[in-house]
Amino acid sequence: MSHQIHKACDFVLFGAKGDLAMRKLFPALFQLHAANLLNPDSRIIGVARADWSQSEFIDQVEATLKRFLKSGELSVELWAGFSARLDYVKVDMTSAEDFKKLGQAIDQSKRVMVNYLATPPSVFGDICQNLSFAELINEETRIVLEKPIGHDLESSKVINDTVARYFKENRIYRIDHYLGKETVQNLIALRFANNLFNSQWNNHSIDHVQITVSETVGLEGRYSYYDKVGQMRDMVQNHLLQLLCMVAMNPPSKLDADSIRDEKVRVLKALHPITSDNVHKRAVRGQYAAGSINGKSVVGYSEEDGGGQSQSNTETFVAIRANVDNWRWAGVPFYLRTGKRMPQKMTEIVVVYKNNPHYIFDKKQKDIVNNRLVIRLQPDEGIRLHVVTKQLDMQQGMALQNRALNLDFTSDDPNHRTPDAYERLLLESMVGDQSLFVRRDEIEASWTWCDELINAWSETGDEVKNYNAGTWGPIGSIALIERDGRSWHE
Ligand code: BG6
Repeated sequence: MSHQIHKACDFVLFGAKGDLAMRKLFPALFQLHAANLLNPDSRIIGVARADWSQSEFIDQVEATLKRFLKSGELSVELWAGFSARLDYVKVDMTSAEDFKKLGQAIDQSKRVMVNYLATPPSVFGDICQNLSFAELINEETRIVLEKPIGHDLESSKVINDTVARYFKENRIYRIDHYLGKETVQNLIALRFANNLFNSQWNNHSIDHVQITVSETVGLEGRYSYYDKVGQMRDMVQNHLLQLLCMVAMNPPSKLDADSIRDEKVRVLKALHPITSDNVHKRAVRGQYAAGSINGKSVVGYSEEDGGGQSQSNTETFVAIRANVDNWRWAGVPFYLRTGKRMPQKMTEIVVVYKNNPHYIFDKKQKDIVNNRLVIRLQPDEGIRLHVVTKQLDMQQGMALQNRALNLDFTSDDPNHRTPDAYERLLLESMVGDQSLFVRRDEIEASWTWCDELINAWSETGDEVKNYNAGTWGPIGSIALIERDGRSWHE
């Protein structure tokens, strides 16, 4: 994770017309430009099948920036500088000839070529093959891959094998955009720069960990994609397991990409398998029915556009009790839950500490006596440490209260803007640092565990349980944690 100005790049964005490019990637590239983080000679080359002229492409980018940036961010001067970096090449991903045209827009003697594939994985192979055919791959050329990398272990291997025929692993940048979120990176600082936490980060002190990623959105018109995937593949296989790794990994010996990723793979390999024997106690699947969110009625999953009122068994909610079978975490459950159409959009990690071995205060107060570390990733990024203190009151004797030491990253500086995860990740791909990208063995270890769980659901004929939109998931997800004498952090 570096702040140096990188070598000049030709940043080639395949899928430049797509939703991700328009909504996230061009705004992120613009912010990097505005913050002077791009090399002055770096260029951005949009690639798509659309029949756009150069000026039509630039108009499209301007329109998307106007839509997604805050007012005042797109000044005339910044736009002039940013638009001067833009170029467009119309390419049919399957046409080798079109890649020769692309070659004319690239100069690898002056700039590193970074290829960002914001396209379906089904064309990754064609793109790699055609880049190679047009002699556009050299020892410095990089490739950035968007998820999904497969829908199970086998299909992810096929994608990885295809890309590996053309690019070495140290040139492949697999995106998990959660790793670009500032507070996720802050976990590294929190854990490894504070002996206060580092020395207590184990099963002697920690009772359990909760990771919640809740969204208020439904499918946003993505039914045909989502119904084949579900929340387990869409969110758990990547984002939740990456968060779990950041919490559970051992301290890396150095802060470099492979040292960090070696430790994450160890965690994934140590995850206790969830199979048909234990799945009913360890995991719950749900699907939202009609309900209301923030006072607004929303339809159920089967009534979503594209759903056709069908009886789908695809989950939009998952809760799991995971265990990491190693010395540090033996006996410490990690409760994960994620769902669509929940009451609130929020990503939060809660580390719940064990109580003291002996209790000397008023028994009626026992429930409030625990320490929790709450790491809020979004919105309102911050860290709260719940500690127990005496109430300032002469009448009450030793009356206790649980209060929070609050580190609020959003209010420290009112002019501060939290960078979007993609800004960090695009920058790192240009700098050439892979620390925040997922290595092949991580993806495969993660699929291995998820496949076993998904198979367990199908072997046991598990049916999704309904929950009303605007609630925290099916009742079974509450039972999952309450069976262990614990409850979800509110
Ligand atoms: C994506 C999923 O990876 O992450 C989406 O495909 C989900 O279904 C999104 O909505 C959530 O990302 P964020 O950054 O808004 O929490």
